[in-house]
Amino acid sequence: MLIHLQKVCPSEQVDHLRDLIGQGGFVDGGTTAGQVARAVKANEQLEAGARVDMVRSEVRKALMAHAGFVSFARPKTLSRILVSRYRDGMAYGPHIDDALMGGRRADLSFTLFLSDPDSYDGGELVMDGPDGETEIKLAAGDAVVYATSAIHQVAPVTRGERVAVVGWVRSLVRRPDQREILFDLDQVSAALFARDGKTRELDLVLKTKANLLRQWAED
Ligand code: NI
Repeated sequence: MLIHLQKVCPSEQVDHLRDLIGQGGFVDGGTTAGQVARAVKANEQLEAGARVDMVRSEVRKALMAHAGFVSFARPKTLSRILVSRYRDGMAYGPHIDDALMGGRRADLSFTLFLSDPDSYDGGELVMDGPDGETEIKLAAGDAVVYATSAIHQVAPVTRGERVAVVGWVRSLVRRPDQREILFDLDQVSAALFARDGKTRELDLVLKTKANLLRQWAED
């Protein structure tokens, strides 16, 4: 299960992030990949320093303030955040992401798109699932969040450049099926409240959600 988050960053913030990133230096992306993934990784990453720290801080805040992200991911911390750039001919072949990043479990991955989709060709995030491949290419400021366990790739960019912020989430809830139940219950409780206000039924749904979270959360 993956989720498309709309407007994680409004357009003014996208412009600001692009400015910050555009003034920075980039290094070979292979440095942050594992030994096997490195063999298929051809991209660039914003070098360490004040700029990438500012981008990380803004993206962390924007995600943590996004209700859809919080409900879907139940984030405890964001384990790692990188700024990636793919120019003409660059790609990241099929791979899996590391299970641990800086000693923290990576449960979910996200990609926040910063380039306008019309400004480049290729560069789709391709998810390999039981139903085949899903290609994802979103508006600037939108993000996709998916389980880190999935095999995925970034298709070759054949025109322009694709800039994105990618990162990993350590969730309070380890299991995707349990996160999905909590995500569904969030929607049920919000819909019940919108339709009927505070009712006994709503309280029972909220009680069930709280009790499940107490069972499943690793805080
Ligand atoms: Ni990856």
